[in-house]
Amino acid sequence: MGGTSAEREVSKATGVNVCRGLAGRHTVKPVEILADGRWCVPDGFLGSGISQDPEAWLGAAPLDPLRALAALRDAGIQVVFNALHGPGGEDGSFQGFLRHAGVAFTGPDVTAAAVTMDKWLAKQVLRASGVATPSARLLPGRDPGSELSWREIAASWQREVPAPWVVKPNALGSSVGVEMFDGIEAFVCRAAAGGGSVWCRGGPGAGHFLLESRVRGRELTCGVLELDGEPKALPPIEIRPRESAFFDYHAKYTPGATEEICPAPLTRDETRAVQELAQRVHGIFGCGPLSRTDLFLETGGGLTVLEVNTLPGMTATSLIPQAAAKAGIPMDELLEEILRHGLRRQESRQSTVDSRQLE
Ligand SMILES: Nc1ncnc2c1ncn2[C@@H]1O[C@H](COP(=O)(O)OP(=O)(O)O)[C@@H](O)[C@H]1O
Ligand SMILES: [Mg+2]
Repeated sequence: MGGTSAEREVSKATGVNVCRGLAGRHTVKPVEILADGRWCVPDGFLGSGISQDPEAWLGAAPLDPLRALAALRDAGIQVVFNALHGPGGEDGSFQGFLRHAGVAFTGPDVTAAAVTMDKWLAKQVLRASGVATPSARLLPGRDPGSELSWREIAASWQREVPAPWVVKPNALGSSVGVEMFDGIEAFVCRAAAGGGSVWCRGGPGAGHFLLESRVRGRELTCGVLELDGEPKALPPIEIRPRESAFFDYHAKYTPGATEEICPAPLTRDETRAVQELAQRVHGIFGCGPLSRTDLFLETGGGLTVLEVNTLPGMTATSLIPQAAAKAGIPMDELLEEILRHGLRRQESRQSTVDSRQLE
C-alpha cells in the first residue's frame, strides 16, 4: 500500500482495509511503500508482533525494494496482496518486478495493468475492438507559448475532438489533474495562464495529458469479478456528484459528496448492455481477477467507455465492495477470490516452468 503516485493516500486507505479484512483468516504483514519508493517492512505479523493499529504498523524503517523483497521472502510470505493504485503500482512495473522475482501477487498481470493505465493506448485498443470511447488526442510535448498559438492549435483540434473538452493526465487516477472546459475559449485562457506548461511537460508516457470530448449523459461504473476463473459482471453503479460538476477527487473521497446508486436505476435492457460491455472490456485487456469500467450512458442512448481500472479502491465504501455486496459477495469473500486468483496464477506459471525444464 501507499506507493510513489499521487494516489498514495487512497492506496493506504485501501491497504489498511484489506489488511483488516484478511487479518482474521490469514497471517498478514502490512507493507507501506513510501513516496520515495522505499518499502517499510515491519517485523512480525498483524496480531503477532504488530498491533492492530495502522498508526503503529506503518512506521517501520524503510528499505530499498530489493532488500525489502528479500526480507519478505525470509519471513516466508506466500503472496503479495497489491493494494497500490496509479503509476508504479497499477501500471505493470510493480507486477513485472514481482513476476521476475517469482513472487505471487494479486490483481492484474503485467500487460493488463500496463495497457489500461495508459488511457491513450487503452483507447486505441478499445476502438480497434469496436468499443465506443470519446474522441481524444494527446496534448503536445511542448507548450506552444502564446495565447495566439494556443487559439490556433485549439481551433484545429476542434474538428478532430469536438468541444466541450476534458483535459486529464494520461496515466493517473482518482481524478487527479482532471479539468473541464465548456468551449475552446475557456481552454485557451487556462492554457495561456499556466495550464499549458503543466500539460506540455514533454516526453512520452506518464507526463502526457489527454484532451477528450466531454460526454453528456449518466455516469456509470461497472465491476467484473472472476469467480473460480469465470468473469461475472457486478451490478452497475450510477454516479451523481452532489456538489461537483463531475466525479472529481472531492466527490470521490468526501463522505456524502456523491450519490452512488447501486444497482443503477436502469431498465433491464440497459443494465444488461452495461454489464455485457464491462465484461467485454474486461476480456479485451485480460483484467483478471477484477476490473471496473467507467462509462457513460449518453444522452443519445449509446454507451461510451472512459477508462478501465484494474486495481480499483477497496475501502469499505469503495464502489467495487458496494457492488459486490449487492451481488451477495461480502468483503471477506471478495478478498479471498482475489487472493486465490493470484495464487492460482503463480501455480500455473510454476508448472509451466517445471514442464519446460523437463523438456
Ligand atoms: N470525456 C469525459 N466526459 C465526461 N466526463 C468525464 C470525461 N472524462 C472524465 N470525466 C469525468 O472525470 C472523472 C475522472 O475521469 P477518468 O477518465 O475516469 O479518470 P480517473 O478516474 O482515472 O481519474 C470521471 O469519473 C468523470 O466524472
Ligand atoms: Mg475513473
